[in-house]
Amino acid sequence: METLKCTVLHLLVFVQIIRTQAKVASIIVFGDSTVDSGNNNHISTILRSDFGPYGRDFINGQPTGRFSNGRIVTDFISEGFQLKPVIPAYLDSSYGIADFATGVCFASAGTGYDDATSNVLSVMPLQRELQYYKEYQTRLRESLGNEKAEKIIGESLYLISMGTNDFLENYYILPYRSSQYSVEGYQQLLTGIARKLIQDLYNLGARKISLGGVPPMGCLPLERARRILYGSDCIEEYNNVARNFNSKLQDLVNNLSKELPGIQVVFSNPYDMLLKIIKDPHSYGFESTAKACCASGMFEMGYLCNSYSTLTCQDADKYVFWDSFHPTQKTNSILAQNAINNSLAVFL
Ligand SMILES: *[C@@H]1O[C@H](CO)[C@@H](O)[C@H](O)[C@H]1NC(C)=O
Ligand SMILES: *[C@@H]1O[C@H](CO)[C@@H](O)[C@H](O)[C@H]1NC(C)=O
Repeated sequence: METLKCTVLHLLVFVQIIRTQAKVASIIVFGDSTVDSGNNNHISTILRSDFGPYGRDFINGQPTGRFSNGRIVTDFISEGFQLKPVIPAYLDSSYGIADFATGVCFASAGTGYDDATSNVLSVMPLQRELQYYKEYQTRLRESLGNEKAEKIIGESLYLISMGTNDFLENYYILPYRSSQYSVEGYQQLLTGIARKLIQDLYNLGARKISLGGVPPMGCLPLERARRILYGSDCIEEYNNVARNFNSKLQDLVNNLSKELPGIQVVFSNPYDMLLKIIKDPHSYGFESTAKACCASGMFEMGYLCNSYSTLTCQDADKYVFWDSFHPTQKTNSILAQNAINNSLAVFL
């Protein structure tokens, strides 16, 4: 009885918080390492980051499986929406459905729209993320009842962020897709999968959705390092593909806004903001863009970015990138604020 009273009270407080403070009921995340808050710790893949120096600027200096020195973009967005400051990973058993009711992450580092991408490092394909989301809906209904669960499902903000790995871990590295598709054709394939994902989420009750674009991929330190003999500048070819793909995603969002009644879907594009920082780092308090903080700053991420490297920088806030593929916490906070100021403003 006491427990029941507690639970009811808990729910009342919880519902009250939703009504009075937050503009959306929760944040629900799909995608890759840009937004994975630790799901890969619980699957068998070599692509993980649940060890130092990852997380050294996180709460309690804790490595969580986020690919950064601290929080990632989605954490800052959650906080910006007056929800919790960190979004838990669905596969982390130290959290329960009550935690996930105010924000949950289904993302898996290394994944992409294309299953051939998630296969490269045996991470969760998109359909698996979606399966877990369906399981989550069932748990939510069992725990809160249909009515409250539906409310959360319909009033949550869904953030989708992936695509970079499809190009950099798959298309441009492996022969399989590049022998089947021109880069234009491949972008169309990915855009079709993104369309299907948004339609599936819509059919499952989602109404507020942000589709994320890809960053200037040619400026990631790993890509620059690969071309070091050519002056380690950003690789224009990859940036062009990123811009082209982003404009297709923007078109997709425009189309779906018209096709799906009652949907609010926006395109959140990190490209311009990140390129602005990379071209003019000093205005944002950064000192290094071509080289990342961790280890040599050129090649290392995942297991190669570890506490044995003596080269890792002291102050990550001076670096745009934390490892050779992922931004620092400080960059993430700017990207989140930029999204909140622009594309996500309609949900505030
Ligand atoms: C959007 O709709 C236009 C007009 O019907 C079509 O030409 C275009 O291919 C669509 N783009 C996407 C990405 O859905
Ligand atoms: C967001 O908007 C605030 C208030 O207008 C502004 O101070 C801030 O610089 C903006 N940040 C970004 C990253 O766009």
